[in-house]
Amino acid sequence: MIHKPRANIQPYPMTHELPEPHWPSREQAERSLLFSPAKVGAFTAPTRSWIPAMVPWRATEEGEVTQDVIDWYGRFAEGQPGVLVIEATGIRDVASGPLLRIGHDRYIPGLKRIVDEVRERSKGQTKLLIQLIDFLSIRRRPEPEKFFARFLQIQDRHREALTQITGQAEWKTADESQVRTALQELSSEDAARALDGRELESLRYGARQRVWDMHEPGIEELPRVLPGLFSDAADRAKQAGFDGVELHYAHAYTMASFLSPLNRRTDGYGSTLEGRLRLPLEVFAACRERVGKDYTVGCRFLGDEVIEGGGRLHDAVAYARAFAAAGMDFLSVSKGGKFEDAKQPRVGQAAYPYTGPSGLECMPTVRMDATPFGRNLPISHAIRQSVRDAGFDTPVIGAGGIAAFHQAEQALQDGDCDLIASARQSLADPDWWLKMQRGLGDSVRRCKFTNYCEGLDQKHKQVTCQLWDKDKETPDRGGAGPVLSSDGKRRMVPPASPEL
Ligand SMILES: Cc1cc2nc3c(=O)[nH]c(=O)nc-3n(C[C@H](O)[C@H](O)[C@H](O)COP(=O)(O)O)c2cc1C
Ligand code: SF4
Repeated sequence: MIHKPRANIQPYPMTHELPEPHWPSREQAERSLLFSPAKVGAFTAPTRSWIPAMVPWRATEEGEVTQDVIDWYGRFAEGQPGVLVIEATGIRDVASGPLLRIGHDRYIPGLKRIVDEVRERSKGQTKLLIQLIDFLSIRRRPEPEKFFARFLQIQDRHREALTQITGQAEWKTADESQVRTALQELSSEDAARALDGRELESLRYGARQRVWDMHEPGIEELPRVLPGLFSDAADRAKQAGFDGVELHYAHAYTMASFLSPLNRRTDGYGSTLEGRLRLPLEVFAACRERVGKDYTVGCRFLGDEVIEGGGRLHDAVAYARAFAAAGMDFLSVSKGGKFEDAKQPRVGQAAYPYTGPSGLECMPTVRMDATPFGRNLPISHAIRQSVRDAGFDTPVIGAGGIAAFHQAEQALQDGDCDLIASARQSLADPDWWLKMQRGLGDSVRRCKFTNYCEGLDQKHKQVTCQLWDKDKETPDRGGAGPVLSSDGKRRMVPPASPEL
């Protein structure tokens, strides 16, 4: 008998085992590269451990720092990572949900509270960066009725298409409201014939601006406004006491879009490698001029966009050399995380750039074709090698499924990167760095790499980890709490580690 495949079979039935940790003794940790200092521009991180940016959705709707934000970063600081990067923080003073903002001087006092908390709870061991982000508008997927009645701009080509589809010439002169109604009533195949690619995308996914939409308001002048917005934000970060800034040139956002070969702008800010690099270099130059040489400024960018027509490793290598030559203080390498291959959202929801294949490369899980562990190290290795060959010693930061001592140490020994970034393992157990350092590796709570946290992020819900958020009994540090999420179902930060 032939069994039919079940409809709900996973695309990647294989589950990868967590890597063997080979936790170090205290003495081994002391002798390791991981726990040796690294110079990152103007500061020296006491160890090569790095927590990359993770948005926890804990700011106010106005982008202000809350006590929850402070508790979140304070908890990471207790594990004493060498460097901690504060989440993507908006450089404009515009509504963007509970995402931190740095687009006005009024945000400085709140941000300073994070700095003070991290200094205190890391006992001065953790250097603190803030990630600066600009993003373009993305709308929610509309109700089809609303799209056809209000959003779609009716053109003669729509009348022409209706004429072709129906075989009735009177559509050539039909009035707009009739055209709108007729378009809405088309089958989905006929709608695909009548609408152009961008219109179909707006209907099926929600309208999304591109940096090459020169006719759209605010897009043409991006090269004129962004250097000022980024450098104002960098200056505020310096005033708030951060040790440096990370310019967000990665994933689905404005600056990564300028770098992408998909950017066909013809005003000198696209189309060629030099054109694509021009704005990212101008933004960096403006920041450097504002904050001076003695302040750390680096960027996070993509080693591979992992989308059709997007940038690949050879583009990233050229960008890295140009950034290093311009004087950037570090290069943090990420991968994927694009809108172009994101899943279709439900009506009323916006597309999310970590739901497609490129998103999976950005936050690899145990359910994928090949191992998620250290998956992106070959690209950071190639980038680092190329930067070294060009004569620069700019530190390169590697990330993606790094969750074991020997893996991190081997990557450093092999020259895959100079510092080890670990996001989800640090969320699962923020103390894991300190536990390793003290020879207490056996007590590390190990991330499962199944992306429960990323699912919360996708829904813009307060991010927590499945390994500790159901514990509503153990108090937070200092004996209070625990503080619970707004739905009362999950604790907001992990309990203190009794071993430490
Ligand atoms: C909940 C969550 C939020 C994230 N937010 C950001 C962000 O704000 N900026 C960024 O560059 N990367 C962000 N990332 C990506 C991580 O920094 C990291 O690159 C990715 O998770 C892969 O590293 P890992 O395997 O150590 O988790 C986020 C990841 C998660 C899980
Ligand atoms: S929720 Fe899952 S993937 Fe996220 S940090 Fe916790 S164990 Fe890791």
